[in-house]
Amino acid sequence: MAEAVVFTSGNGSNFQAICEAVAETEHKITAMICNKKDAYSFVRAAKLGIPAYHVSYLGRSRGETEAEIDALLTRLKPDLIVLAGFMKLLSPEMTEKYAGKIINIHPALLPKYPGTHGIEESFASPDKELGVTVHYVDAGMDTGKVIRQKSFFRTGEETIEEIEEKIHACEYEIYPQTVIELLNRAEEGK
Ligand code: GRF
Repeated sequence: MAEAVVFTSGNGSNFQAICEAVAETEHKITAMICNKKDAYSFVRAAKLGIPAYHVSYLGRSRGETEAEIDALLTRLKPDLIVLAGFMKLLSPEMTEKYAGKIINIHPALLPKYPGTHGIEESFASPDKELGVTVHYVDAGMDTGKVIRQKSFFRTGEETIEEIEEKIHACEYEIYPQTVIELLNRAEEGK
């Protein structure tokens, strides 16, 4: 069995999709860590029976918050750290310490449209092919090595809401799959 911790900042729908898929395997999601006290991901964690931790970035330095995150990770010793809608940039110290163990999902076909407006920028682009990217996390903003992408062709008739729905459907398909594959690999390496 290998273990993962999921980081969120809001809705947590990817977190839930991952938990439900991992529950069908020998692996385990041992915790959800969120920087927003009122995030809906806490409601999901409670329903899923996953221990949830709030780590605040408010009124203190990133270093202080990351020290708290690092203490949790030192205790939990996850094989994989899964960022799922986590809206904070981790410091180079953290990404180096956990290099090769932190992954993220981005709602665009990287290297196109990194940052926080991946869906809006994809929608506004002339691109016919849109999609999502799972990648390793390094110190940059959505710059780490790509692990997997899934794309679809748009008709051009869709509203932004419809495009968003298609993008999320791609996420719910490839993110849980990738997490399970990486947990399988971690297990094999033990
Ligand atoms: C997803 O679209 C993800 O690609 C992006 O943030 C969104 C998170 O949604 N990084 P949720 O919190 O998983 O519902």
